[in-house]
Amino acid sequence: MKKAFSLLLAALLIVGLAACASPTGDTPAAGGDAVKIGVSMPTQSLQRWNQDGANMKEQLEAAGYEVDLQYAGDNDIPTQINQIENMISNGCSVLVIAAIDDSSLTQVLEGAKENDVKVIAYDRLIKNTDAVSYYATFDNWLVGTTQGNFLKDRLDLENAEGPFNIELFTGDPGDNNINYFFGGAMEVLTPYIEEGKLVVLSGEIEQAVVATPQWNTEESQKRMENLIAAYGYGPDGTQLDAVLSSNDSVANGITNALVAAGYTAENFPLITGQDCDITSTKNMIAGIQAMSVFKDTRILAATTLEMIEAIVNGTEVPINNTTDYDNGIFVVPTFLCEPVFADINNYEELLIESGYYTLDQLQ
Ligand code: BGC
Repeated sequence: MKKAFSLLLAALLIVGLAACASPTGDTPAAGGDAVKIGVSMPTQSLQRWNQDGANMKEQLEAAGYEVDLQYAGDNDIPTQINQIENMISNGCSVLVIAAIDDSSLTQVLEGAKENDVKVIAYDRLIKNTDAVSYYATFDNWLVGTTQGNFLKDRLDLENAEGPFNIELFTGDPGDNNINYFFGGAMEVLTPYIEEGKLVVLSGEIEQAVVATPQWNTEESQKRMENLIAAYGYGPDGTQLDAVLSSNDSVANGITNALVAAGYTAENFPLITGQDCDITSTKNMIAGIQAMSVFKDTRILAATTLEMIEAIVNGTEVPINNTTDYDNGIFVVPTFLCEPVFADINNYEELLIESGYYTLDQLQ
């Protein structure tokens, strides 16, 4: 799998480079008549979207496009709508959108359709509209099952007697991705909860109840602090074996609360994550986050660039899933990139040797 991943990265980078080296046919020339691409990102307050925005801009500009990159304040839906409106009226030919809320863009995207502007849903599916043309993302169900299977294996749920105490956290309720992250993880964990081998003392199991508004670290910290206070979790109190967290920004809040409750690397509950954010990677190295899932934003940007090149040149747009991403109106043609399990044993190869981070950034 590792090899396949490296090959995919290499292939995508080659495609990207080829696109820069030999622009064909309609590929934009540098200068005044370059094709304009709008890139709408949800926030600058989480590391991943800064990386996504920067990668998209860099790769698009290297391929000769003009880029209008906008971040919507701190997950501010009206700001995102406004920015998309401006991108359409300023003549963008293609929009790349990571939606804050999956269902709030229906109306503004009518304008895109009227102006024949193609829309690529980036990372997050955009629902309730036929104005979205393609979806570029990672296999988010696989993210969830990777987290669930990690807990299953590390707690040895098949063989151990248990019971084990676990609490559950996912992300923003307006982000369609949580259906996959939480759904995938719970597909693995639910049988053990039903059997009583995994116990959620709080009883908070429903996705809507364990959601974290805006994937916000302070919010997940507050909720974990409340759970600690209510159920007495602590190294000398009620045993807490694991916390399922759908991503790193949520995991960071949980970790902060558990550190404050006295847990150390020696007795830390297993916490899952996603993104390999710098803080979480440092926590993995320090033994206070058990795993993360690496979604290489360079690959997602390269995939999206390939889609844009195909749209602009009128060639076949790369997709590898035509069955699973129904946005409520139609099944959106999708390209799924592969997420990769990450922990203390492989982070160096995944993150440092691949050039994603420098060693300094993790110190
Ligand atoms: C992304 C995750 C990210 C989360 C919070 C999700 O839609 O897929 O990678 O951690 O948003 O930004």
